[in-house]
Amino acid sequence: MNTPDLFAHERIGQRESLGPQSLVLRGFALPHAEALLPAIAALEAAAPFRHMVTPGGFTMSVALTNCGRLGWTTDRRGYRYSTFDPDSGRPWPAMPGVFAALAREAAAAAGFDDFQPDACLVNRYVPGAKMSLHQDRNERDLAAPVVSVSLGMTATFLFGGHARTDKAERIPLYHGDVVVWGGVDRLRFHGVLPLKDDPHPELGRQRINFTFRQAG
Ligand code: SIN
Ligand code: FE2
Repeated sequence: MNTPDLFAHERIGQRESLGPQSLVLRGFALPHAEALLPAIAALEAAAPFRHMVTPGGFTMSVALTNCGRLGWTTDRRGYRYSTFDPDSGRPWPAMPGVFAALAREAAAAAGFDDFQPDACLVNRYVPGAKMSLHQDRNERDLAAPVVSVSLGMTATFLFGGHARTDKAERIPLYHGDVVVWGGVDRLRFHGVLPLKDDPHPELGRQRINFTFRQAG
């Protein structure tokens, strides 16, 4: 089933507030998509996507890799940022210039100047993959925002409050959308519902999410 996205043109360029310092920038990454896709292929060749294990012993349904000076990892000992890929022992691939430029532009558009991401987590979702509600709190300096770029299949993003049990808003994220959250919203719980099997015309049966952070 391939539901055509009839309203894409009307959405592009819209800004939807999720909170005092958080918003969705509809279609913000579309002008960069042509450059992002080959960069993902190069990244994947150097540091393949893999399913990591959480401290609780669960294997994540999302496959991940990283680029930039610091990469987010998890294993039985906990979540952390590391300068090297635990599978290869090599440094993570450098963050492509197009990635960093997009992240900086999106942060600035959301009111966060001088965003200098040193970490880009790349998550790959296939149908059924999900991300449970969590806070991004492994970064050293929480003054910088989180910038999250979506490509491929549509996902339902959950954006909650400061307690895990706070009711979460459900926001569809389409190919090219960017979400930015920072400031008073920086520690809000968020996640992604299990992905529906609705292939994307260009990326097929996957969603790629890039999460940029100033981690170190
Ligand atoms: C994350 O919170 O790390 C990922 C969010 C997303 O996939 O949109
Ligand atoms: Fe997150």
